[in-house]
Formats: sequence, C-alpha cells, structure tokens
Amino acid sequence: MINGLKRLKGEVSISGAKNAAVAILPAAILSDGICIIENVPDILDISILKNILHEIGAKITRINETSIQIDASGINSYTATNKEIGQLRASYYLMGALLGRFKKAVVTFPGGCDFGVRPIDQHIKGFEALGAKVEIEHGKVIINASKLVGAPVYLDVVSVGATINIMLAAVKAEGVTTIENAAKEPHIVDLANFLNAMGADIKGAGTDVIKIKGKRELKGGHTYTIIPDQIEAGTFMIAAAATRGDVLIKNIIPKHMESLTAKLQEMRVKVDSYDDSIRVSCREKIQKVNIKTLPYPGFPTDLQPPITSLLCRAEGTSTITEGVWDNRFQYVDELKRMGAKIKVEGRMAVVEGPVNLSGAPIRALDLRAGAAMVIAGLMARGETAISNLEYIDRGYEKLDEKLRDLGANIKRVG
Ligand code: EPU
Repeated sequence: MINGLKRLKGEVSISGAKNAAVAILPAAILSDGICIIENVPDILDISILKNILHEIGAKITRINETSIQIDASGINSYTATNKEIGQLRASYYLMGALLGRFKKAVVTFPGGCDFGVRPIDQHIKGFEALGAKVEIEHGKVIINASKLVGAPVYLDVVSVGATINIMLAAVKAEGVTTIENAAKEPHIVDLANFLNAMGADIKGAGTDVIKIKGKRELKGGHTYTIIPDQIEAGTFMIAAAATRGDVLIKNIIPKHMESLTAKLQEMRVKVDSYDDSIRVSCREKIQKVNIKTLPYPGFPTDLQPPITSLLCRAEGTSTITEGVWDNRFQYVDELKRMGAKIKVEGRMAVVEGPVNLSGAPIRALDLRAGAAMVIAGLMARGETAISNLEYIDRGYEKLDEKLRDLGANIKRVG
C-alpha cells in the first residue's frame, strides 16, 4: 500500500546482482570443491535456486547476511525436475552447469516472467555444437553427451541466457569454444570472472566474441563477490526522479548505469556519478524523450517498465520502443487505471505527458512491471494498492523497506 507524493531523500545501498547470482550459484557446481560467494541478494529467486541445488546434493551454508558457502562435492544427480524449477527462468543455467559436470542433464523446461515467446533454441544450438544430443520430452529438457568438444558457436540473436549456458558447458569441454555475437551484459563478465577464479580460461567476456579453453578440472577454495545489481540501482534512480527527490545510490558501478544516466540527463534530471555511487536529484520539469531498449550497453529492457511510469510526468509525448522482447507492455493497462495516457502499437509505447497519476488498485504482472507499479504509486495522489507482490520479491531485496528508509509512505498489508 503506497500513499504517494512523498519526495525520496537520503541514501540507499544496492544489493548483489540477481542476474549474476542466478548464474554464479549454478556455476559453483562445476567444481568438486567449496567456494564462498559474497554479496548474494536475499530474494525469492535465490531461495528457490538454493533449494534446487540442495536437492541435487550441494551443501549450502549461510556465512552471514549476504555470504554463502557452497560445497559441491556431494552433488550426485544430474536431474533437476522439482516443481519450483518451472517457476524460475534462470533454472535453465542448471542445464549448462550439469552438462559441464556430468555430460548429462535433465531439467524442467524453464518458466519465468511472461513477455511473449521465450525460446531456448540458441541454448540448444550451443549444446549441440559442443556434441550434446538434446531432446524435449514431457516438459523436460534432456541433454546427453558422450563427450563435450569445444566448437565455434554463432548466436543468431544476442542472448544473455544462451551466452551464459554455453560458457557453463564449454569450460569443461575438450578444446576451444568461441561464442560469436555473444551478449555483453555486466553479469556475463561477472560469471567469467567467477569461473576464471575456479581455474577456467575465458577471454573476451564483455565483448561480442568470447573464447573459452576447456579444462578437465575446475577447483573450489576461493571467495568471490557478486557485482551490484544494475537494474535495482536503475529502479532507485528512476524512483528518485519520479518523486522529485534527492537520493544517493551507493554500492554500484556507475559505468553500468551510463545508458540510463544519459537518458535521465536528457530528461533534465540531475545525475552526479562518483566512484561507486550516483546521486540523483530532480528540481526541473522532466522533459520528453525517446528510448529504445537494446542489449547492453544499450538501454536495458528490464528498466523499460519503470521508466515508462516516469515518462507519464514528462512534458510532451515520449516514445519507448522495446527492442528485446516481443510483448513487454502488458503492464500499461494497469498504469491506465491510474490515469496514464499511453498507447501501445506493437513494440512501441507512446506516452503522453504530463499526467498527474491517481492511486488505484493495481497488479504487478511480472518482476519489472511490479517495479513500474511501485514507482507509479510513489508518483500518484492518494492510495495505490499493489497486489501480486511475490513477483517483486523474486528480484528486489526489501524494496519496501529501502523505500521507507528514503521517506516513502509504503507498507505491506495482508
Ligand atoms: N532468444 C531467442 N532464442 C534463445 C534465447 C533468446 O530467440 O534461445 C531471444 C528472446 O526471445 C529475446 C532475446 O533473444 O527476444 C533476448 O533474450 P535473452 O536470452 O537475452 O534473455 P534471457 O537470458 O532469457 C535475461 C534476463 C532478463 C532480461 C534479458 C535481456 C536472467 C535470468 N534474465 O533473460 O531479465 O530481460 O536477459 O536482458 O538473466 C529480469 O531480470 O526481470 C529479466 C527478465
């Protein structure tokens, strides 16, 4: 329940990156040893993943609030098919990790947020290039290889998931794998750093060609700290602007925020970048902009819903074009209940502003749509009741608490 029109003020510390953590935890099973992972976000997706890893024999010990130890020596199963897996998109990383470790994997077909078709053909193409046979039967992906042999893979679309999955299998293949047209997101670099710390030989992560020399063994025994969450940081930057606030967003990598920083500045929001923090404040009228989401370093699709809420208060008509997913504007109907004037035409939304949003009962339709609803609630006059909070809890650590600490009038009810 949000009572809007409160300016956010103060400091907020960003948690570890969800989309890095959901790749790094499965990657830990590629060694027989123990590793310590720090800056793990406390979110629902990670709890589900920890349960799944525990079920296949990993021993996971909590060291403190943000660090865990994973002992992968007891992993004895290449089958991950429990009910929870279907809910989690990132469960597909178990395919690459189990294939790397056992040369076999049986994993429930991945679920996750619904924004149109979410194929895994590029993941499968990569596994097959390394010599695996892949079948889909009764809702499960069944992968078998007598041996994995490095190979060139050219991705037809820039896919974060396929790039990561191919890396996970290729680090244990014989010989060299080259991924061309690879995704360049910060979490891909983070995973490569984690795997290299285990003794893998990955070069070029963060560029569009990644070269992986396979290793027979990967070792444990190291401690690794996950990067800060680029999308959580972006959500707070947008929330600060949306409430005409003044917020210092700490524990981030400002370089990862450049596409958003540039857009906010174009909207006349004040953004000051420091070594590991960014201050966002807003005094002037927000100006209209045109945005197109693209793979990194372009404007992130995961910030498309939150920034659409902000654009409702911009002077003039803005457009936002979704360049990654087919259908990621379903949440717009919820914003319309609050008075937003948005027209969706295919992959483009035309947002007419400025509009004074008014509170209403609305639903979080997925994780980032949920963040967009929270931002709209913070901007709106009166009370906004958001349901389906489980979507938000999947990927944001204590979002309500962090916002309350910045002065928002937000509470969980029921
Ligand atoms: N695609 C294919 N074939 C494939 C894989 C992808 O055609 O085999 C297409 C998709 O349909 C989409 C595009 O390629 O149009 C990009 O998809 P990608 O594979 O990059 O997405 P993903 O790996 O499934 C991750 C994040 C998403 C984020 C996208 C894009 C995780 C667990 N998920 O998904 O994050 O939107 O990259 O950056 O890392 C979120 O955090 O809320 C979220 C949805």
